[in-house]
Amino acid sequence: MHTLDVALGERAYPIHIGSSLLAREALLLPHIRGRQAVVVSNETVAPLYLDVLLATLARGGVTAIPVILPDGEAYKTWEILNRIFDALLLNKCERNTTLIALGGGVIGDMGGFAAACYQRGMPFVQVPTTLLAQVDSSVGGKTAINHPLGKNMIGAFYQPQMVLADVATLDTLPDRELRAGLAEVIKYGLIRDPEFLVWIEANLEHLLARDRAALIYAIERSCRNKAEVVAADERESGERALLNLGHTFGHAIETGLGYGVWLHGEAVAAGTMIAAHLSNLLGWLDDKDVARMGKLFERCALPLRSPRLGVARYMELMSHDKKVLDGRLRLVLLEQLGRAVLTEQASESQIAQAIERGCT
Ligand code: NAD
Ligand code: GLY
Repeated sequence: MHTLDVALGERAYPIHIGSSLLAREALLLPHIRGRQAVVVSNETVAPLYLDVLLATLARGGVTAIPVILPDGEAYKTWEILNRIFDALLLNKCERNTTLIALGGGVIGDMGGFAAACYQRGMPFVQVPTTLLAQVDSSVGGKTAINHPLGKNMIGAFYQPQMVLADVATLDTLPDRELRAGLAEVIKYGLIRDPEFLVWIEANLEHLLARDRAALIYAIERSCRNKAEVVAADERESGERALLNLGHTFGHAIETGLGYGVWLHGEAVAAGTMIAAHLSNLLGWLDDKDVARMGKLFERCALPLRSPRLGVARYMELMSHDKKVLDGRLRLVLLEQLGRAVLTEQASESQIAQAIERGCT
């Protein structure tokens, strides 16, 4: 097992990465305050992993109440979030009841937001079960739900007490979801870790074949990158924005098509290619760099081309981006492979041209 720390002073917490960790009470129980917990999961993940988690808690004398939500990005809403609050209140949960999110990024983001709000904050543990959640969404304390006008627009920064990434849970993950998670793994290589990018290129077949050692290495290195960025800039006043490479365009795709039509990782891959085209138009990436990125996403069977929503619609959707400052759009682009920058340097016509290129 590997353990990393997210160094946030008194809110620091460990990320445990390894196999069959759900059954390890010595990892879980020290982070459960009180004798009551709530496990938020969904209709797909609960039948697979809820029992083992409940048994681990029971061995430590913790009674856990399951809250099972419908599965999907389309359910990351106020209405479904409210079901968590209903369960917390109906079961008379207290401020020291621990909320455990068992699932992918949707459950982690919603569970975390509920934990941030209930009685103004209850202890929270992340048990991510998708590759995407293990490398990205469970770490760093961003929690949110979607709004019809914009992705992850309603939320809070709220750090967990611990992240327990059990790689064995990835055995049941559908291939399409595994590939979507790789988009966020590749992101770390592109924005700040060029050696990791080379490693991914060399080891992609092992990752796609779910080789356990390769997956653990990729998760550990991704989390190390993310933990460093979050420790330096928890609330995204600077460097953390770089973790959003491809996301301004990607979120526009997700909102524009309707939540859940494309997976988040798919939208991020296609959005990252638009960011690559724009970096190319600014003279930062050369054609070979762009082709190298495209090749990597292609090997993951991730989309390189974005849906043709129209430039005006992209611009409208992107105007809600959380990086917009004083009405001006700021974008994460690549100065070179392995070095990202947050910039306002791209003109509207260059952005439009990059979107056109990314859609054809
Ligand atoms: P997801 O949560 O929808 O999970 C993907 C699918 O896999 C779902 O159908 C889920 O039920 C299923 N699943 C989960 N674990 C499984 C398992 N072990 N075996 C079989 N099936 C399993 O999607 P995701 O890709 O995990 O997360 C995407 C979400 O995360 C988006 O809403 C995105 O906005 C958010 N996100 C948040 C952050 C953050 O920093 N908070 C970062 C990146 C993404
Ligand atoms: N996934 C982007 C962030 O956590 O900042």
